[in-house]
Amino acid sequence: MSNQASTPFAKRLEGKVVIITGGASGIGEATTRLFWSHGAKIVVADIQDDLGEALCRELDENAMYVHCDVTDEEQVKKTVDLAVEKYGKLDIMYNNAGVADCATRSILTIEKSDVKKVLGVNLIGGILGAKHAARVMVPAKKGCIIFTTSASTSIACTLCHGYVASKQGLIGIMRNIAAELGQFGIRVNSISPYAVVTNLTKSTIPHSSTKQLQALFNKSTNLKGTDLKADDIARAALYLASEDGQYVSGLNLVVDGAFSITYPSVPFV
Ligand SMILES: NC(=O)c1ccc[n+]([C@@H]2O[C@H](COP(=O)([O-])OP(=O)(O)OC[C@H]3O[C@@H](n4cnc5c(N)ncnc54)[C@H](O)[C@@H]3O)[C@@H](O)[C@H]2O)c1
Repeated sequence: MSNQASTPFAKRLEGKVVIITGGASGIGEATTRLFWSHGAKIVVADIQDDLGEALCRELDENAMYVHCDVTDEEQVKKTVDLAVEKYGKLDIMYNNAGVADCATRSILTIEKSDVKKVLGVNLIGGILGAKHAARVMVPAKKGCIIFTTSASTSIACTLCHGYVASKQGLIGIMRNIAAELGQFGIRVNSISPYAVVTNLTKSTIPHSSTKQLQALFNKSTNLKGTDLKADDIARAALYLASEDGQYVSGLNLVVDGAFSITYPSVPFV
């Protein structure tokens, strides 16, 4: 293991070029800030132009905002090409953009248009990101691709069916691509977060304050005494993206405080 991986305060992504989709807000924003602080050059790819531009202005020339709707293959292709043009290569592709807004959570009233929308952003957007990242990583014979999936892939929950399907789909794709691209030295992994208070969860469970949402999430999981924050997911991404994870591929890294392995509501002690 190199010093870079074992020294706790070393910059763990020095000189690495990263695209983060959905990088303007929530988990993506936290990852942008953390990766940037570790010396990476970041392309923030999002559709919230004001947020993305403000974030990159706050950082320096090592962060660039690009309007990229991940459902549009041409925009994804251009974003990858722009990263290579501006910074010379692409080391890490973090397919993190996601939506969860569905009109209904029941299979009885499910809307085809809702399912198509959520699959379009979360699943197809992730596949397009991986496709165009692989296009430039295969000739380089190295690279790292990460997806944000969800703890809803480990256990049934009340999120809408299209969302769960999109995230389950991403785990399948992640494993398949890890198998396909390993021969080129490319690692492919995903992260399954439990609930984090972000714009996504605020819009999924409206009319609750940040404090109320956090209390609700804390009540429903097993690990107590700490709040799950976007920064915790960013740190999991840093592990996968850096040399610390250099032999890790095909892993769905669950960051859920044991939410998905036991049912916390019945107290036995
Ligand atoms: N917050 C949670 O509890 C939680 C839990 C598990 C998984 N996730 C996943 O984490 C990821 C990030 O979500 P978040 O919680 O940070 O929410 P968020 O709303 O703060 O961030 C999502 C980002 O994705 C962007 N985005 C949406 N559609 C896009 C598109 N078509 N093209 C490009 N960008 C687009 C949004 O503009 C936003 O900046 C999502 O994939 C989400 O499903 C979140």
